[in-house]
Amino acid sequence: MNGVIVAGTDGSAVADEAVCWAVDDAARRGAPLRIVHAVEAWPYGASGFSASGTADFAVRAGERMLTEAARAAADRRPDAVVTTELVEGAPAAVLRDQATAAAELVVGSHGVSAVTGALLGSVPAGVAGHVDGAVVVVRPSMADPYGGIVVGVGDSEECEPALAFAFEQARLRGCPLRAVHARRTPSRVSEPGPDRTEDEAPRAVADRLAAWRERFPTVAVTQDMACAPPAAALVDASGRAALLVVGSRGLGAVGSLILGSVSRQVLHHARCPVAVVRQAPLRSSPAGHR
Ligand SMILES: Nc1ncnc2c1ncn2[C@@H]1O[C@H](COP(=O)(O)OP(=O)(O)O)[C@@H](O)[C@H]1O
Ligand SMILES: [Mg+2]
Repeated sequence: MNGVIVAGTDGSAVADEAVCWAVDDAARRGAPLRIVHAVEAWPYGASGFSASGTADFAVRAGERMLTEAARAAADRRPDAVVTTELVEGAPAAVLRDQATAAAELVVGSHGVSAVTGALLGSVPAGVAGHVDGAVVVVRPSMADPYGGIVVGVGDSEECEPALAFAFEQARLRGCPLRAVHARRTPSRVSEPGPDRTEDEAPRAVADRLAAWRERFPTVAVTQDMACAPPAAALVDASGRAALLVVGSRGLGAVGSLILGSVSRQVLHHARCPVAVVRQAPLRSSPAGHR
């Protein structure tokens, strides 16, 4: 799991924080970091000559931005291997493309053109849930550095990749993991009987967690059952967390939606960095069937 970590930067303060997050994670994992800046107005045609002064400026500004970001990352983590890449194209499309061969993609929640009141920039909205694996969206300085990892555990298999990512992060950081399962109403109580009066949901969650506890015996796990809408419970928990991890969608997700509603709300309102983890489709499935 030492694949490259890709961080996108537009030179904004929030992107700087994303690069810090990414280089910390690269050092933790012993993985290389690639810092990427996308330039939409690419000045060079096939001939290699610049066609427009404005676009030329964008390339030079991008190169400067990358040099500064790489220097800041290397200062922060001298042990990390850091490279940079300037790429032509729309930022979200470029980063989606880069993510296909990366272990993780890291972006800021906002960027240089932050619209007042916008809950999320267009780049994180265009990458989270759109690529296999983990997309980490870093918010400006709100994480509790002493907090643990919080992971949302749903009712379906869809949260397994999120659990894998969350356990791995807790192990790497040596911090506790809090698994939150929430539902609006108390879950159905089983038919009465000597062993069957217990609420079924916590048991199902405990079963789901059991396999992961076995694989990560050093991680201290607590299981929380919240009687609240899931997004609200997770946003609340994010106030005391270093990182919140969710799957890209759950059981309720409508087929055509890229992101489930819980993941989307959490990306808009969480008070710490959020990792959205999407499962890679099974490669063995027959062609044309997903
Ligand atoms: N041109 C770009 N190249 C690479 N990454 C980018 C670029 N633009 C934005 N990003 C990444 O996306 C994050 C959010 O930016 P964006 O969605 O553009 O928000 P805003 O609308 O506030 O500018 C940035 O913090 C950065 O990590
Ligand atoms: Mg922008």
